[in-house]
Amino acid sequence: MDICRSTDAMRAWRRDAGRVALVPTMGALHQGHLTLVARARDWLDGQGGGRVVTSIFVNPAQFGPTEDLDKYPRQEAQDLDLLRDAGCDAVFLPQVSDIWRPGAQTHVQVSQLGGILMGRLRPGHFRGVATVVTKLFNIVQPQAAAFGEKDYQQLTLIRRMVADLDIPVTILPVPTVREPDGLAMSSRNQRLTPDDRAAATVLARALDHAAASVNMGTPVSLLRRQIRAIISSEPRADIRSIDIRNADDLSRIAVVGGPVAILLAVRFGDVLLIDQRTAHP
Ligand code: PAF
Repeated sequence: MDICRSTDAMRAWRRDAGRVALVPTMGALHQGHLTLVARARDWLDGQGGGRVVTSIFVNPAQFGPTEDLDKYPRQEAQDLDLLRDAGCDAVFLPQVSDIWRPGAQTHVQVSQLGGILMGRLRPGHFRGVATVVTKLFNIVQPQAAAFGEKDYQQLTLIRRMVADLDIPVTILPVPTVREPDGLAMSSRNQRLTPDDRAAATVLARALDHAAASVNMGTPVSLLRRQIRAIISSEPRADIRSIDIRNADDLSRIAVVGGPVAILLAVRFGDVLLIDQRTAHP
């Protein structure tokens, strides 16, 4: 597995690499990320072969001033071992100064999708995501890139951005990978106390229950009440948002009329967890 620690090194590697699929990550890798690597590999195999590149970059531009940038887990040696075992071909590990150069003035903003839901809770977050993903696409020049459905708003926004800007990258959505007790895998889970870790399983239970209640014409307010009741039965859970939206474009709906995305943001201690499920009536 090749390791490229600068933009120049990545560009030089890419020149003779042929078809490439990219897995953008912020490190602290777990089985969810390795599933993205496997999806990228499958896609390449279907195209006649190619190389998988994983990027590891904790992107300061997507953290707010009060957020956990310094606390974000960093475990490079372990990440590289996992990627080697997963059959990744190359890793892009740039420095912050390589990606964010002084004097930069250009940003990518997906105006509507970036301002709703998590974009309201985390102002500037999606501008940071859209800009860094565009830069990664420009540096690595992949034909495809894999993103987890767990960050459903991010996935929807990147699909919109790629369509709006005619970026020639096929977006590969990958279903959320869960622990045996249902908790969605996330690098943030490491920061939960044992009690909060146990309590956090309430999210998957609430999503399963809501998904089973989704029928044509079900009022969204009813689904939201049911979800709130289940999550509130867990005293350690601090609900930040419960949203049920059109699964295609995340627009607001009053009643279920097609596929919906159920999106949760809930704090346990000082850790904000998100989880989601799409449901079809
Ligand atoms: O999902 C993530 O880990 C990040 O938002 C991404 C896509 C790697 C951009 O920094």
